[in-house]
Amino acid sequence: MSLDGKHVLVGVTGGIAAYKSPHLVRRLRDAGADVRVVLTASAERFVTALTFQTVSAHPVPTGLWDPAAETGMAHIELARWADLILIAPATAEAMAKLAIGAADDLLSTLCLASEAPLVLAPAMNRIMWAHPATQANRATLESRGVRFLGPGIGTLAEAESGPGRMLEPLEIVAALAEPGPLAGVSVLVTAGPTREPVDAVRYVSNRSSGRMGYAVAAAAARAGAAVTLVSGPVALAAPAGVERVDVETAAEMHVATMAKAADADIFIATAAVADYAPADPAASKIKKSDAALDIKLEPTVDILAAVAALADGPFTVGFAAETDDVEANARAKLEKKGLDMIAANRVGAGQGFETDDNALTVLWSDGRKDLARAPKPALAMQLVDLIARRYANRNR
Ligand code: CTP
Repeated sequence: MSLDGKHVLVGVTGGIAAYKSPHLVRRLRDAGADVRVVLTASAERFVTALTFQTVSAHPVPTGLWDPAAETGMAHIELARWADLILIAPATAEAMAKLAIGAADDLLSTLCLASEAPLVLAPAMNRIMWAHPATQANRATLESRGVRFLGPGIGTLAEAESGPGRMLEPLEIVAALAEPGPLAGVSVLVTAGPTREPVDAVRYVSNRSSGRMGYAVAAAAARAGAAVTLVSGPVALAAPAGVERVDVETAAEMHVATMAKAADADIFIATAAVADYAPADPAASKIKKSDAALDIKLEPTVDILAAVAALADGPFTVGFAAETDDVEANARAKLEKKGLDMIAANRVGAGQGFETDDNALTVLWSDGRKDLARAPKPALAMQLVDLIARRYANRNR
């Protein structure tokens, strides 16, 4: 990701490594970022707001209630302004507060109020870092998509040595500026259910929430891809930086997807497309009667198979929702539809649909990888990493 023109909010928490943070702000600005700084009360014991005002060329709000902020709510303004939030140094205390979602000062509140990616550069005593409480907080934060840079191993303030040192400012800037694994790649994602009309007011649909597909689209965007999301009706906002095309029926999803597929490098079909649609939907509302009602269903077009069949089409990834023989059924789909990869999950009995967590078995022609149960955003990041690696090796 290039930092040129990016709005980077730097949070400084109270550790001795805070003495490096003004230097970090300078280096971020050298890389083209527009930087604003928020200090916690304990950070102010180590460094002053005035220092950061000078190096960032912006005023440094210190409290939650800032009369100078237009709305009187600095946290909301800053949360919206930030393209990226970087906390450096991040103390054990800061990690604990983020993990539980505390909101008792400006920095913790704006982190809770922002959808911007969050990056932490931890710095603390090596025993505090290794403590199970800190490691549990790290795991929780990572599962929500928070990225950790460091800590590095080296001499700590107390003349001890071990993991706990904040990375050097230039190392942090280099890690942030590194292009993602999908930089320059265009990714097309389908997500959500489709609705197939029965009559003017009724439809046939399924329980898909769209959460997995939206998480995949967000993860691909974070990996640097240009992402188009063809979405059935869901109650979710489009992830930041993703172009969304709204559709309702399988036929509409087919048309919208094919219009974009030729220009896509990677196609990921997460949508729970209806396999059948009423053959002859009634134009007006069907009236109730005592007789049984037969609705004839016809197969819809298999969008995934259609994209996989394109000459020079994208690298194609399907999903398989299975109740039995998950791996064997998914491998059969991989082969039958001519896919590059398939991500299989077990559904039913409280798994897969309408849940926050999921687990996947990802298969390709000569390999497989299990992705353990995790919240959908974290799982999507792992899946996108795997897709990026297979995509990079596609012609080898
Ligand atoms: N898919 C699609 N278009 C359809 C149906 C499915 O693009 N009309 C895609 C889904 O997005 C998913 C994969 O195909 O990536 C699912 O494969 P499919 O064979 O449809 O799975 P099931 O419907 O579960 O098949 P079956 O009922 O045979 O298990």
